[in-house]
Amino acid sequence: MDLVEGIETRRSIRAFKDTLIPEETLNKILKAAANSPSFTNTQPWEVAVVCGKKKEDLSRIIYELARKEADTHPDLPMPKGWPPEHEARSKDHGKRRLAALRAERDDEAEREKLSLMNFEFYGGPCAIFLFMDGSLNEWSIFDMGLFSQNLILAAHSFGVESCLQASVTRYAREIKNFLQLPESKKLVICISLGYPDNEAKLNTYRAVKQKPEEFTKWYR
Ligand SMILES: Cc1cc2nc3c(=O)[nH]c(=O)nc-3n(C[C@H](O)[C@H](O)[C@H](O)COP(=O)(O)O)c2cc1C
Repeated sequence: MDLVEGIETRRSIRAFKDTLIPEETLNKILKAAANSPSFTNTQPWEVAVVCGKKKEDLSRIIYELARKEADTHPDLPMPKGWPPEHEARSKDHGKRRLAALRAERDDEAEREKLSLMNFEFYGGPCAIFLFMDGSLNEWSIFDMGLFSQNLILAAHSFGVESCLQASVTRYAREIKNFLQLPESKKLVICISLGYPDNEAKLNTYRAVKQKPEEFTKWYR
């Protein structure tokens, strides 16, 4: 797959088949992501690959926490709000995702169902958690973003699709506890991986993207 074609055809997938991802493929994906650039080559990423029974067990724990609306402990604070134009895009995204499930925006039960699907990793066979040392700052988060993007693009090139999930990081404390990682580590993102269920209604959703002229000013 051509690089630009890969970038332009990747999209978040929110319904996966339960087909397992061969370990060999996961290793190739991680090897590609390992080549990511980082601030003075610090390579802050620490990766937990959670599959099989461990994934089922962790999913059960966090699903239950989310269902009960238990207190959350994200390591990176959640946004408190957005500037108006970002808010509009975020709302539109929520509306279109629900519409893909053929539900109304104000259908509270359907919205909750959709939100809880995050904690089942959208049915994916594998969840990857990206951590960094607690002492690191925003530049390392920038690096983690580059690593994440390379990881999901490499996955895409192998037919493995993904969904980045900040929602899951709300239970960072419980996830670190489950993975026996020190509390001092920062959970930056969860990435669900798997083969897409192309029959699923939810996967008909396509995010609307801006055109370059909407976000670019040229100086010549
Ligand atoms: C930092 C970050 C956090 C995200 N968290 C979630 C999430 O918790 N649940 C989810 O379904 N999608 C999540 N997404 C996916 C975005 O909704 C998605 O990238 C966006 O709508 C654009 O769609 P695309 O990925 O198909 O291009 C997240 C994406 C990013 C970059």
